[in-house]
Amino acid sequence: MRVPEHQSFAGKARRRVAACAVFLAVAVAGGLISAVPASAVAAPVSAHAALAETATTLAVPATVNPLPSVDPIGDPASFSVLVNKSRPLNPAGYAPSDLINARGSGQYMRAEAAAWLNGLFQGAADAGTGGLSIVSGYRSYAQQQQVYSYYVSIYGQAYADTISARPGYSEHQTGLAMDIGNAAGNCGLSTCFGDTAAGKWVAANAHKYGFIVRYPNGYTGTTGYSYEPWHLRYVGVALATDMNRRGFPTLEHYFAGNTAAAASIKSGADLVAADASGRLLRYPATAAGGYSGAIQIGSGWTALKQAFVVDWDIDGVYDILAQWNNGSLGVYRGLPGGGFAGQVVVGNGGWDRMTITVGKWTHAHGRPGVVGYFPDGVLRYYPNTFGGALSAPQVIGKGWNGMELTIADWEGDGANDILARTPSGSLINYRGDGWAGFFGPATTVGTGWQYMRVLAPGFGLTGAGTRGITAQTADGNLYNYGLGRGQWTTYGQVGSGWNSLKLFK
Ligand code: DAL
Ligand code: ZN
Repeated sequence: MRVPEHQSFAGKARRRVAACAVFLAVAVAGGLISAVPASAVAAPVSAHAALAETATTLAVPATVNPLPSVDPIGDPASFSVLVNKSRPLNPAGYAPSDLINARGSGQYMRAEAAAWLNGLFQGAADAGTGGLSIVSGYRSYAQQQQVYSYYVSIYGQAYADTISARPGYSEHQTGLAMDIGNAAGNCGLSTCFGDTAAGKWVAANAHKYGFIVRYPNGYTGTTGYSYEPWHLRYVGVALATDMNRRGFPTLEHYFAGNTAAAASIKSGADLVAADASGRLLRYPATAAGGYSGAIQIGSGWTALKQAFVVDWDIDGVYDILAQWNNGSLGVYRGLPGGGFAGQVVVGNGGWDRMTITVGKWTHAHGRPGVVGYFPDGVLRYYPNTFGGALSAPQVIGKGWNGMELTIADWEGDGANDILARTPSGSLINYRGDGWAGFFGPATTVGTGWQYMRVLAPGFGLTGAGTRGITAQTADGNLYNYGLGRGQWTTYGQVGSGWNSLKLFK
């Protein structure tokens, strides 16, 4: 078994690549093969039924469009756990095992959260805010009972419920919450903390340290609690940054963004594949970063050149873009309740000769489009303007012959890039400028990738907010490569025996 090397794993400097692709920003009309309006087409059908069925092996993430990637987490020991009025801790008496005395304050937090809290405090001090102080951290079930009862006794239950969680329902019991204040002591547990220099700095910067302001102003209808600018919740840098970048104000929004709880493809971490007999299979990702057995979600998926998991119409439910051997390109819209709508042809004829990737390629267009080339190597971007048929393409480069293409955000800067695998196995990052063009030098981010047959971007396999690429080797193994900001992070084998499966990208 051969495994690709990664320069950045070894911490080597990136190598500049003498351009094998030269980029031209030339608007070109009349793609040979552009879009064709939607129409019913005789093509493989996707079944609605989710026939449970166990298959041989494991799985990996696959998709190009980062919807919130996992169902809300119920494990109280997870940094991503969702605790609110309708999701109590389970078990109710949960107590973390790794509490430490945060900053020697006498208030406790789980060790990782406490370590990042140190960074947050340092950052606030360095920024000249006057500094932060610790107010209240871990509270056991019994302690929360006391706090809640106290508030009920002085305010009555209805009001108490807007400022205090009931025992078994508090984030403080997870060891991941910390109430903070100003070092100077003003505005303690008051909303005016949010108007102080420290409070403003925290709201703007907490995500860099893995924290969120859990009960932001204006979202009482969602969280059930009044504005608490002082209540920080540790969720980890990946998730906090992901929330910030994508503009989710609360954890409820973040997880509710996955409206696909009943859909056939539920998560950006799920793996989707077609087997040799055309069965469409989903391999559900588990919160632990593994996979459950395959579930059949369709049939008739033979004669595919390649398929992609993508939210084509940005309705929050994953769809499938199918590139058929007969040359057509079709979208099967995922239905919120499960199954798929019938195929809509979004590109007619000739697509079997194209090498394509799919994803959001410019900030100017909200929907993911297609980037690809014919054997002539001229790279074109086909906008998906309406969530249906593709619009006329624009030329964005030439000399791409022989490259395998994957749209992914290598730098994590919010603008997608193209990771191109050369015939000799180099993986090269062509940095997207976010406006359908490229900028900066191309950089080699891996070598030895010639043994990979499919590269499938995924979201959330190793935790909410995480990103990665799953690669299927020619000999049927699957590997997952975690993607940080401009570097590979985790790496591991996540499957074997995939020789006869077509992994969707
Ligand atoms: N004050 C927050 C809601 C709690 O009691 O957990
Ligand atoms: Zn609190």
